[in-house]
Amino acid sequence: MDIKAEKLTHIYMSGSPFESKALHEVDLSIASGEYVSIIGHTGSGKSTLVQHFNGLVKPTSGSVQVGNWTLKHDTKQKVIHPMRRKVGMVFQFPEHQLFDETVESDVAFGPINHGVPKDEALKRARRAIEQVGLPQEVCSRSPFDLSGGQMRRAAIAGVLVMNPEVLILDEPTAGIDPQGQKELMDMIEAWRQDYEATVILVTHDMELAAKHSDRLIIMSEGQVAKSGSPPTVFADEQKLQSLGLQLPESLRLWKAVQEHFGKEGDSLPFGETALVEHIDGMLKGSTLGDV
Ligand SMILES: Nc1ncnc2c1ncn2[C@@H]1O[C@H](COP(=O)(O)OP(=O)(O)OP(=O)(O)O)[C@@H](O)[C@H]1O
Ligand SMILES: [Mg+2]
Repeated sequence: MDIKAEKLTHIYMSGSPFESKALHEVDLSIASGEYVSIIGHTGSGKSTLVQHFNGLVKPTSGSVQVGNWTLKHDTKQKVIHPMRRKVGMVFQFPEHQLFDETVESDVAFGPINHGVPKDEALKRARRAIEQVGLPQEVCSRSPFDLSGGQMRRAAIAGVLVMNPEVLILDEPTAGIDPQGQKELMDMIEAWRQDYEATVILVTHDMELAAKHSDRLIIMSEGQVAKSGSPPTVFADEQKLQSLGLQLPESLRLWKAVQEHFGKEGDSLPFGETALVEHIDGMLKGSTLGDV
């Protein structure tokens, strides 16, 4: 499902003294199957933007096209409802999405709500719980007795169980330990490959964005400040700095290594494995005297 925003403007509490313009005439397209990361400093409009893609908020002006659905200021809720099933959204604090008595019934809620018979919904829920790497024993536990990382997985299972064509993740790794972050992102990557879905990741983590996505969209003050493949975006370090952003850590290290050894290269390593391979390649390509 392609997504297209045209002159998308969103003003919170429009007409009140607390009015706040979160998005200003945003134009962007995301193609079906793309993995896009949306980055930008706090308050730049990332969450507001992605909440339009599943109809959680409506444009103040302009429009959003998601597959065959068009969302405008006056679009009715009943038009938006079926779109929600296709566009799964994991919120910035997904543990707030949990509410039911057991993990299993919580995850099964979406399918049941959309008319899937209870037995079948529970079967799908158990499969989704397994997909996110939670042991089956959590099925009968209260979601509120889980650890923070487990709660997040349970909330993600509640979204994946709907087989969304578009998966939106708003800061999914915030507050999770590094190993948990890696597992979560690898799980999403594997899910995406199986289902050929579109993934839209909102993150402050440049390393994650660089490693996983086909394209980066940088938001600044409610507008798209830059969009392109990770190497294209990271080639303009000055622009990034002017937007209050930094290069991913692996890239900063690689630049320091290149500078130290007086070497130049045009390929960019994202992630520690790629960085180690680049350094290894550089060392093998030189005589020890050079290094
Ligand atoms: N519910 C709301 N009511 C009023 N103003 C809001 C609301 N949500 C967001 N805003 C304002 O809209 C602007 C964009 O907020 P948004 O949450 O989209 O930013 P963000 O890029 O997701 O930030 P963060 O990185 O902190 O999550 C901010 O100025 C924010 O204060
Ligand atoms: Mg946000």
